[in-house]
Amino acid sequence: MITIHDKTFTPFISQETIENRIAELASQINTDYEGRKPFFLVVLNGAFLFASELVKNIPLSCEITFVRLSSYSQTESTGKVRQIIGLEETLTDRDVIIIEDIVDTGLTMHQLLQQISDLGPNSIEIATLLHKPDAIKKPIDLRYVGFEIPNRFVVGYGLDYDGLGRNLDALYVLPE
Ligand code: XMP
Ligand code: MG
Repeated sequence: MITIHDKTFTPFISQETIENRIAELASQINTDYEGRKPFFLVVLNGAFLFASELVKNIPLSCEITFVRLSSYSQTESTGKVRQIIGLEETLTDRDVIIIEDIVDTGLTMHQLLQQISDLGPNSIEIATLLHKPDAIKKPIDLRYVGFEIPNRFVVGYGLDYDGLGRNLDALYVLPE
């Protein structure tokens, strides 16, 4: 058990299980991208630990860059849009792999995919540590998924609860 702010979380997925699974995803990527030079686009903050563990297991020649998504900002025509902050490289003809911590409703990833595809890459795939299939509102093709999890709030291994918990070396879940 671990208490963060006002909530108590219980152990969910151990560090060993997480890192074994990430190594499996890495070896799939190594096979799939053999002879190519993937461009890893890491979405901060949540994906930082997942990304570092993943790329340590990927000996391919590759680029790794880090972006943030702005907080939601309303525009009259499109509603809530999150802009990509910090992307300086050109993605034309690149084989992009987006690295995310979690795909929950999928709304964030749906927008991100549209914005990345407008930049003209050769291909785009997604690697996400976690996915909540029961919460999905926008179906998305997720090529590399660490764990499919129930629709419950999780922290640790990069994911936070109100700013805390990202440094936990395992995943914890809020009991139902
Ligand atoms: P959507 O719903 O757009 O959400 O797929 C994506 C973002 O919501 C956050 N999120 C979580 N963060 N524990 C967290 O710490 C969770 O269980 C959780 N579910 C969603 C996260 O920032 C993700 O990028
Ligand atoms: Mg996130």
